[in-house]
Amino acid sequence: MVITAELDLDRVPAHIACVMDGNGRWAQSRGLPRTEGHRAGEEALFDVVEGALDIGVEWLTVYAFSTENWRRPAAEVRFLIEFNEDILLRRRDELHERGVRIRFVGRRDRRVPKRLLDLMDDTTELTEHNSRMTFTIAFNYGGRAEIVDAVRAVVDAGISADRITERTIARRLYDPEMPEPDLMIRTSGEFRTSNFLLWELAYSELYFTDTAWPDFRRGDLFEAIRAYQERERRFGRVSPNGASKASTTNGDG
Ligand code: IPE
Ligand code: IPE
Ligand code: MG
Repeated sequence: MVITAELDLDRVPAHIACVMDGNGRWAQSRGLPRTEGHRAGEEALFDVVEGALDIGVEWLTVYAFSTENWRRPAAEVRFLIEFNEDILLRRRDELHERGVRIRFVGRRDRRVPKRLLDLMDDTTELTEHNSRMTFTIAFNYGGRAEIVDAVRAVVDAGISADRITERTIARRLYDPEMPEPDLMIRTSGEFRTSNFLLWELAYSELYFTDTAWPDFRRGDLFEAIRAYQERERRFGRVSPNGASKASTTNGDG
């Protein structure tokens, strides 16, 4: 396990996004039902939040339920919806006390129960003035759906084609204030984004680990950040003699 001393605390990624994957396999490898893997993921999530707070990560975004996850068996879908609601009810106050601003991204369609949508709204409102870290939960989130929804908003605003820029789209994503992730972490040995933050990840550093999400802890987060700090982010430019190691901005404002 890596200790924080090995990290350059001046170059901690401002925004880290996590695909919390491998819960089902973690459980099945222990002879447990898949839902026990989701349950075990809670401890991982809160340890990662604590670790992120400790080292000053400003934005943490986690993928909790994708627009594709409706394809799972109905019982698992129901469990995931209820479990997310349960976690929010039990733990939002402690996050609030820690100075965490909680936000949600995703489609608010009819498949998401009204009770959960209301709880999301209450939680967002409760924590909106916190400033230590913004913790965003992607629920019923799909990157393609987000871009489609942004395009719809552009059309609704009556903006003509020749006036559309990248900024026109970016300003209509689910959270226009969210900076692009510097680092995306996916657990459990899969090398794909699975429709997570398609627009926003364009220039993110990607980090993959075989560790299943329920076993992931802040030490694993620090290890991912250490790897990130070894990267050179070029944003299309040529290397200025290695001087741009993991800077957190593309400099284009
Ligand atoms: C991630 O774990 C949690 C969600 C997708 C909600 P999985 O449930 O995908 O676990 P695996 O990938 O099947 O092991
Ligand atoms: C991505 O994981 C979605 C979440 C972690 C919520 P999946 O397990 O659903 O992704 P695929 O199906 O393996 O691509
Ligand atoms: Mg999975």
